[in-house]
Amino acid sequence: MFSHLDPYAGDPILSLNEAYQKDPRPHKVNLSIGIYFDDAGRIPVLASVREAEAQMLAAASTKSYLPIEGDPAMRNAVQALLFGADLPALKDGRIVTLQTVGSSGGLKVGADFLRRWLPASEAWVSDPTWDNHRAMFEGAGIRVHTYPYYDAATGGLKFDAMCDALRSLPPRSIVLLHACCHNPTGVDLTRAQWDALVRLLAERGLLPYLDLAYQGYGDGIDDDAYAVRLMASRGLTFIVANSFSKSMSVYGERAGALSFVCTDAREAELVLGQLKATVRRNYSSPPIHAAGIVARVLTDPTLRPQWESEVAAMRERILAMRQRLHAVLAAKVPGRDFGYFLTQRGMFSYTGLTGAQVDRLRDESAVYLVRSGRMCVAGLSMGNVERVAQAFAGVLG
Ligand code: LMR
Repeated sequence: MFSHLDPYAGDPILSLNEAYQKDPRPHKVNLSIGIYFDDAGRIPVLASVREAEAQMLAAASTKSYLPIEGDPAMRNAVQALLFGADLPALKDGRIVTLQTVGSSGGLKVGADFLRRWLPASEAWVSDPTWDNHRAMFEGAGIRVHTYPYYDAATGGLKFDAMCDALRSLPPRSIVLLHACCHNPTGVDLTRAQWDALVRLLAERGLLPYLDLAYQGYGDGIDDDAYAVRLMASRGLTFIVANSFSKSMSVYGERAGALSFVCTDAREAELVLGQLKATVRRNYSSPPIHAAGIVARVLTDPTLRPQWESEVAAMRERILAMRQRLHAVLAAKVPGRDFGYFLTQRGMFSYTGLTGAQVDRLRDESAVYLVRSGRMCVAGLSMGNVERVAQAFAGVLG
């Protein structure tokens, strides 16, 4: 029945992470997958999350299904986190939010919805983007194209070329944007660039689809929501898929949400109905445990500030690693400018290493990066950063 199937080539990120797990070399370093590791190389369970779970266990009275759209307390808390509690659009009922199975689940539900209700729209993603964006949109039956983004010559952004490309798109085109901490490059728009881009998106009648997977890892929890709040305050119709995997370090709980900002409450009601229909046909309803963690951590007056300081500590450790890597590399390879490690934000940096150099790092030094040259800076620690820098210098030299 199935012997004609194509073999699965594996996922470029997840398969690499599996290869790393199997590597017996004790000094191996995992800079592949987008997961936050602490300085001891552990994936932490945050104290705020642990406490929320203890409270949930004590209070648990049922494990019934959640509604299709998810837990109301979690959905309200997510809206306040993303949009700010005082946004008029929230009070006007123009925003609908569903709890989803991670932000990946949200991205795919949104893509399925768009294919059904805007069938003529095609999607544009940054060059480069997270590999799975293209796969998800194409999997939903949407044609995917790229717009210019990363400038390899400077390690920065091709903002003018990006705007020129977007300006030429037909109205209702779907424009996928990383709200902060661009994956894979770490190159973000400045606030002035977001302001200009949002004007362009509004003038051209384009449909922004924001992926906010690393909130808190860039400049701060509120700062990283700048693009979301700007679009909402300028009256754009747009979509946001957001994740708590990284910001609460709850990867396997699959905690995410999908929000649509609509023109008015009537449209929002219609959107919510069809999103529920899409979810029901997919996985029926989201997980109860994820909802409990997110709702408690975001709304409890003790847990919320504790979580915010835990996020700040993770962000600051990554920044410290960026500085350390930059300092060691600048000393070891004096002719080359590594300033991009300092200006790029979030978990990832594009190292500029070629696929062949990445292969050498893995084979000769047990240092694992994605073959595009993307490194997860959160895999660095005080214990390995010098050796990683030495290995980078070796393949660059
Ligand atoms: C990554 O980009 O490494 C993460 O978002 C994990 C994943 O699912 O790819």
